[in-house]
Amino acid sequence: MHKYASNCFSNKEPIGIFDSGIGGLIIAKEIKIHMPNETLIYYGDTKNMPYGNKSRDFIIENSMKMVAFFYEKKCKAIVIACNSITSNALEIIKDKFKRKILIFDVINPVIKNNIFLSFKKIGIIATPATIYSNFYEEKIRSYYNHLNIFSLSIPSLALLIEKGTDMKIIKFFLKNYLNRIQSIDAILLACTHYLFLKKEIEHFYHGKVYLIDIPRIVVQEIKNKLEEKGLLCIHPSWNNYNIFYTSSSISNFFEKKVRSLFRNNIFIKRTLI
Ligand code: DGL
Repeated sequence: MHKYASNCFSNKEPIGIFDSGIGGLIIAKEIKIHMPNETLIYYGDTKNMPYGNKSRDFIIENSMKMVAFFYEKKCKAIVIACNSITSNALEIIKDKFKRKILIFDVINPVIKNNIFLSFKKIGIIATPATIYSNFYEEKIRSYYNHLNIFSLSIPSLALLIEKGTDMKIIKFFLKNYLNRIQSIDAILLACTHYLFLKKEIEHFYHGKVYLIDIPRIVVQEIKNKLEEKGLLCIHPSWNNYNIFYTSSSISNFFEKKVRSLFRNNIFIKRTLI
């Protein structure tokens, strides 16, 4: 029987975090800031990136492989650090794994946060797979019926970010889309890749639109849950390495991002699952 089923996971076991590429690194970094003793295993399915223009079946099939990988690695918890996966595959992942491993995602903690009570009009920008799933909008509407929601899918933006495209080109591309979402109080960057564009988006709205801090809200939820279950790693383990896997050959940009965000005690490897 797996350890979770018998309730005897050790708090020293790693947390598995996954995305199609670099997007989830921002969530992983936030975990390290607030839970520095945790050991992380990261998987970026770079070979199949972008997930945002894939079918629901494709997303389900490939994200299940990543969850199974973390389960084999005896992770005490997994974090689905991808909105496209959360909105298309969360329920299926939960059906199969919820008794075996603790599952966190990047959407539910945000929806349940009272932050929405402070706004009247919000914008949601995300990949086509997230927007067309309707997951976000339906959930938000079921909790907050006072809100006006403007959803916009931005095809290819995540891919441009993943490839390390020149920021001038990204800004030009982004501007054409953000021009369509005006007069909002707050915006949700509902694709973890877009979190790398926080400054540019703030700048576009001249600091007048509130950027909902998804990483902070999500990581607070993870920390509370781990603490509640006695699974928060409280002692530093200096010899533990955080491992970052990719499914295609490691791009310079991926490596650069991992090194600039995590610096020490890291391994970057290619592995197919
Ligand atoms: N980072 C992912 C998300 O949060 C998806 C990017 C992609 O592969 O299209 O939706």
